[in-house]
Amino acid sequence: MLPKLRILDEQNKMLRTVSKEVVFPLSEKDKKMVEDALKYLEMSQIEEYSEKYNLRPGMGLAFIQLGVPKRIFVVVNEIEDGIFERYVAINPKIISYSEERIYVEEGEGCLSVNRPVDGIVPRYARIKVEAQDLNGEVHTYRLREDLSVAFQHELDHLNGVLFVDKIDKNNPYRGRDTMRPI
Ligand code: NI
Repeated sequence: MLPKLRILDEQNKMLRTVSKEVVFPLSEKDKKMVEDALKYLEMSQIEEYSEKYNLRPGMGLAFIQLGVPKRIFVVVNEIEDGIFERYVAINPKIISYSEERIYVEEGEGCLSVNRPVDGIVPRYARIKVEAQDLNGEVHTYRLREDLSVAFQHELDHLNGVLFVDKIDKNNPYRGRDTMRPI
């Protein structure tokens, strides 16, 4: 069963909220929302379900996209056919990042942005992130390539920023030569 989630559209001003730090222990409601978001993303990446439920495949979701202004996001990464790696990041912080920049060649996507968007979003090629898990324990993640982009994209959500904000309106492909496409 597909979890029932109402994902806010970019028109919704709530997406501009700066989400608040999470205090532990997490409520049961928040834990359920984490589980639902992970399940939703997994299903969105499985063709059978994305077709059945007419879902756009998504890699990440931040709580604010579900209308909850807490510093929590989840990312689901398919490592092999049907095998998923799940990330839950609570109160995440970037503690270091690479000099090298990358961008997603086909363009970034967002489950809150329901239109095609041209242009490139500059991202760090590699980042080190510190985040708490569901129990409040701190973990360090070293991320590269698409996972690095996904984490930066979700971190932006926690600060009320959408990927479309980062595209230069007058010159959407500005800086392309200084960055590596992925
Ligand atoms: Ni997004």
